[in-house]
Amino acid sequence: MKTAINLFSVVLIGMMSSCQNTEKKQQTSTQDSISSVSALDSASFSETIDGKAANLYTIKNSSGAEVHLTNFGARIVGLLVPDKDGKLTDVVLGFNKASSYNNPEEPYFGTIVGPFGNRIAKGKFTLDGKTYTLPTNNGVNTLHGGFKGVHFANWEAKEVTPQKVTFAYTLPDGNEGYPGNISMEVTYSFNDKNELTIDYKATSDKNTHLNLTNHAYFNLNGEGSGTILNHELKLFANEYTPVDSTLIPTGELAPVKGTPFDFTKAKTIGLNIDDQDQQLTYGKGYDHNFVLDKTVVEGLNHAVTISGDKSGIVMDIYTAEPGIQFYSGNFMGDKVTLKNGVKDSFRTGFCLEPQHFPDTPNQTKFPSTLVKAGDTYSTKSVYKFSVK
Ligand code: BGC
Repeated sequence: MKTAINLFSVVLIGMMSSCQNTEKKQQTSTQDSISSVSALDSASFSETIDGKAANLYTIKNSSGAEVHLTNFGARIVGLLVPDKDGKLTDVVLGFNKASSYNNPEEPYFGTIVGPFGNRIAKGKFTLDGKTYTLPTNNGVNTLHGGFKGVHFANWEAKEVTPQKVTFAYTLPDGNEGYPGNISMEVTYSFNDKNELTIDYKATSDKNTHLNLTNHAYFNLNGEGSGTILNHELKLFANEYTPVDSTLIPTGELAPVKGTPFDFTKAKTIGLNIDDQDQQLTYGKGYDHNFVLDKTVVEGLNHAVTISGDKSGIVMDIYTAEPGIQFYSGNFMGDKVTLKNGVKDSFRTGFCLEPQHFPDTPNQTKFPSTLVKAGDTYSTKSVYKFSVK
């Protein structure tokens, strides 16, 4: 069985690299001015984890930008887009081999989190009269699907094409306490306009709560290029959800106006991050869910515009989700070594996680995360890269 899996992965890698070679030939003229800085290659990345192959998948567009993915956690492990001088820059944090992600100290780099991304208070919720108890892996609360959320699952690469990869995984009923056999599909596609789209689909055979998102850590100046404090951020959100000292929302939707949480006009992440403010004290910086204004562009909420001060790389996020968690890397601290050999130092990456609001299963006023048995859960987010 093991041999069959390994043989399959070799054939797959072979097929993929031959696709990439063909693509490379076609793209030589457009890529001449761009130097690739990818620290990833399939042969040294791919490893067997818990008896299953974890591989590297690369999708590229016609301008030579590329997204590296792995089926372990259905993660983004590299994302190379041109900076203001046309140099390809890897704007996500991650590792150069699959097994480095299989580590409880690993802070969810690039992964899909679920079945319920973000926190559930005290690891409990009640559904259809039954109380479900989840393991508490974040102080008194459950975070990102528990110890064995989908971030540690070896997903199946169901469909692989040069610009699109679909990963599939079924969580067994009762995994980490959540109800339902939950079948999930996550599709990454990358078009010629440097737009990375993530489509999520899921069904469950029992009523359950779902909140799937991607947990990429970005540094738009490039992985390992220092703190993200000089990135300029605009959030299309006039309200946010304040939290208690364990980062569970109080249930209130509070105006950002007059607080450090006001990013309605672009400002640097660092401008107010050290202000005396109880919410910033609780989060050790920004670690809060913002309530998106309905600034609808092509059917999705425009959530964010953020740019790297050194690279000029701009990222816009559009989403079908009602909220976005902005986490400014406050718990980072030289715990692991990244792709390019540097440590994951304090605030050298930020996360912007499109999502439903934290702890929704226990909150009556938040948009519901209930997915009924047999219904199809579907959501989508688009990350668009450009330069200024
Ligand atoms: C949470 C942070 C947490 C981080 C883990 C974020 O989504 O909001 O509190 O430390 O994930 O990487």
